[in-house]
Amino acid sequence: MAVLKVVKYPDQVLQTKAKDVKQITEEDRRLVRDMIETMHAEEGVGLAANQVGALKRIFVASADQVKGRELVYLNPRIIKKQGTVKEFEGCLSIPEFYEPVRSAKKIWMKAMTLEGRTEEVKAEGLLSRIFQHEIDHLNGILFVDRLGIFKSKFAKKKLAKKLSR
Ligand code: NI
Repeated sequence: MAVLKVVKYPDQVLQTKAKDVKQITEEDRRLVRDMIETMHAEEGVGLAANQVGALKRIFVASADQVKGRELVYLNPRIIKKQGTVKEFEGCLSIPEFYEPVRSAKKIWMKAMTLEGRTEEVKAEGLLSRIFQHEIDHLNGILFVDRLGIFKSKFAKKKLAKKLSR
């Protein structure tokens, strides 16, 4: 296992849509193990494959940050949403940057497990927020794109300033 380098904004790989996993290979399993180790090393609650430079629709999550209890999903798709919440979000690819983001309160997701089973998962609270954030990553969307047009522009300007320092 290895801790991988987390790609940082504004890298293009974070703004590119990842591809479905058709058949789970040993390489994918290794990638998942490394993503889990990287997520814990960075003290994150979720990590999408784009963030370690792999354009595959895979994400890992750990709402309670307990080792051995991570969730792994491939080819996730939100099939239903309910309610709205607005809470502060951050991202390992955009260090030290937090903004309130609006997202669905409850979601129903269809995804594949690492064993190749298709599951329907219902999530609320932090887990729902993590799932939506990671699925956004897989679609090339960052939380700074979710702030509304004016705030997004402002946030990106602020980020560019920070990056140029
Ligand atoms: Ni993120």
